[in-house]
Amino acid sequence: MEAAIKNYEDVDSWKTIMFLYNAALKEVETKLEILNEEFKHVHRYNPIEYIKTRIKSPESIVKKLKRNGHETSIENMVRYVNDIAGVRLICSFTSDIYRLAEMIGNQSDLKVLSIKDYIKNPKNSGYKSYHMLVSVPIFLSDSVVDTKVEIQIRTIAMDFWASLEHKIYYKFEGNAPEYISRDLKECALMVSELDERMLSLNEAIRSCLEQQESGEWRQDDDDDERKEKSAAAHNK
Ligand code: GTP
Ligand code: MG
Repeated sequence: MEAAIKNYEDVDSWKTIMFLYNAALKEVETKLEILNEEFKHVHRYNPIEYIKTRIKSPESIVKKLKRNGHETSIENMVRYVNDIAGVRLICSFTSDIYRLAEMIGNQSDLKVLSIKDYIKNPKNSGYKSYHMLVSVPIFLSDSVVDTKVEIQIRTIAMDFWASLEHKIYYKFEGNAPEYISRDLKECALMVSELDERMLSLNEAIRSCLEQQESGEWRQDDDDDERKEKSAAAHNK
């Protein structure tokens, strides 16, 4: 954070701030792991495939501030850079995304500051994801500090697309030839179609299993009935 640090006081506050973001990241990650475990316990199903966390590098923080026309200062970074602490939740199906978003919204100690639904409204690039900006209270020995964390929720397929698109975008420094951007957008549509088909497939599998299960129960009931009848005949 060379450019932002002007004196020793700044170094100190930089360290304190980064300590807070790291703590917030840990808090949110643990919270999500617990929600996932609870869901698995109750519904025999885990909505989160995996969780990725990252802290934005000092270089990226400075770049973002400059890009948005802000001076590099610790105050500005706290105010304007919302994704210093970032959590990415990767799930199997689109339906899991909204289920998770609702679960996160219901956590009484998290404040949802803003939501960007790039699933209902994909970006021009074709990018899809559900973004939540939340703040989590960090309890220090003498104070409580609300700290921002950006949560991105997406399917495995959306994540696959976003990772590749990000790499390509960086290779061309944001100026990819038109035909490449067009192809990427087409791939994004294929990804959405794949997600839809996987979701329908999952629903078909579930209803098939439910039918089988209730069939087995009926079978169990028939067996019980048969045993009762035979015991009754035996006791005559
Ligand atoms: P950034 O300055 O990029 O952080 O954008 P923002 O502050 O306006 O927020 P936005 O919600 O648009 O995007 C935040 C994050 O979403 C980015 O840092 C990326 O991780 C991701 N993202 C947004 N748009 C795209 C995209 O077109 N492609 C990819 N691969 N990722 C994207
Ligand atoms: Mg970002």
